[in-house]
Amino acid sequence: MSLRKKLLAGNWKMHKTAAEGASLAADIAAAIGKETAVDVVLCPPFTALDSVGRALEGQAIKLGAQNLHPEKFGAFTGEVSAEMLRALFVTHVILGHSERRGLFGELDEFINRKVLVALANQLKPILCVGETLAEREAGKTLAVVQQHLEVGLKGVTEEQITTVIVAYEPVWAVGTGKVATPAQAQEVHAFVRGILTQHYGAARAQKVRVIYGGSMKPANAGELLAQPDIDGGLIGGASLEARTFVDLVNAAAAAQ
Ligand code: PGA
Repeated sequence: MSLRKKLLAGNWKMHKTAAEGASLAADIAAAIGKETAVDVVLCPPFTALDSVGRALEGQAIKLGAQNLHPEKFGAFTGEVSAEMLRALFVTHVILGHSERRGLFGELDEFINRKVLVALANQLKPILCVGETLAEREAGKTLAVVQQHLEVGLKGVTEEQITTVIVAYEPVWAVGTGKVATPAQAQEVHAFVRGILTQHYGAARAQKVRVIYGGSMKPANAGELLAQPDIDGGLIGGASLEARTFVDLVNAAAAAQ
């Protein structure tokens, strides 16, 4: 029995309309029931947060967003603030996803501002860290992860750190069908926990969930989730179909 409750988050990315999302959420909720041995979070696109939130009313499943803007309000066309998310009963927010970093040019300092704003608004950040294939091949994996983590968490207090979720997502495994081996993932997860220990002390670091993302599927989830420092998953492709996602939730519960 781990100290940490496992957490499974579905990152729907730019998939599902408001109606499709509500229906998927209702199917997942019906299969999971009101009690879960693990924390489950669904992260639809902004346009489906309201309908998915309604479908999850009274259920154990939590609602997450895929991004936020650090300013409270203002002339930021196309952006959404923490306060706007809170008004839709959002509890979690994915920040620093590799697609935001790679396709939209987000840098660690900007991601750090978002992390601090999320925490100040009682949103739990799911901070994504991870190396590209070129960085792995150049032997830079741990250095990259350290930078994403240390800059991303700058200013996060000892009280706040245990509400942060870190997602290790090797970029070469995201959406590629190429999953990290349990040993490759465990090495980085243990490294992340080591950095958290240096900054926040062992007792707090032991409470932080470090989840894995990158082509996690029911077929490979069991051995990943059995690793001592892998506390759950951030699921992209396999979160878009109720049965597959529920199988992953069950795999996480079995590994708890
Ligand atoms: P994937 O995506 O499961 O489709 O690889 C994971 C993610 O991007 O969070």
